[in-house]
Amino acid sequence: MDKKARLVILISGNGSNLQAILDACEVGRLPARVLAVFSDRGQAYGLQRAEQRQIPTIIIPPTPNRAFYDADLAGQVAVFEPDWVVLAGWMRLLTMNFLSHFPNRVINLHPALPGQFPGVNAIERAFEAYRRGEISQTGVMVHLVPDEGVDDGPLLASQTVLILPSDTLETLTARVHQVEYKLLVETLRGVVTGQIKPESL
Ligand code: GRF
Repeated sequence: MDKKARLVILISGNGSNLQAILDACEVGRLPARVLAVFSDRGQAYGLQRAEQRQIPTIIIPPTPNRAFYDADLAGQVAVFEPDWVVLAGWMRLLTMNFLSHFPNRVINLHPALPGQFPGVNAIERAFEAYRRGEISQTGVMVHLVPDEGVDDGPLLASQTVLILPSDTLETLTARVHQVEYKLLVETLRGVVTGQIKPESL
């Protein structure tokens, strides 16, 4: 019997977090299998990363009707019978038309600490806040997506990232990404092995 957790990953771009998941699955660090990778952008480099591992890729370009889009996406994701749906750099807000199909089964990664800098360009906004003297650290969070709240939901894990006086946006971005790769994989490992059990699970 295949005891590996079934994952479907949603991406919109580079897919370096997807790569971290694929690598962890390959070496056995993450007892999971990526069944499919979905993207709303045909140009997303992450699609090539999936294809290199012979993982099915599905592109669903944006449509104006959000309700229809989300219901269609849910139907196509459900075909793969995922245990978990992972938003790894998925840049499109999901409505209940999608989320209600996977209650407590959608996991999001966000490059900021809980409650800080929801939405796009979070690292850049944190860096600007640092330069204004408002914060000294930022971080990364992994959380469940129960509803339409943006980068908000029951926390699975978070990790702080110090911002250094010598940092540029580029060095800070690179450091946040390194933390993301590790935290995402370790959190997924905890979730699929049952070691991480938020109250809502
Ligand atoms: C990551 O920083 C993720 O947290 C954010 O978008 C970025 C995606 O990077 N939502 P990649 O596509 O995984 O390389």
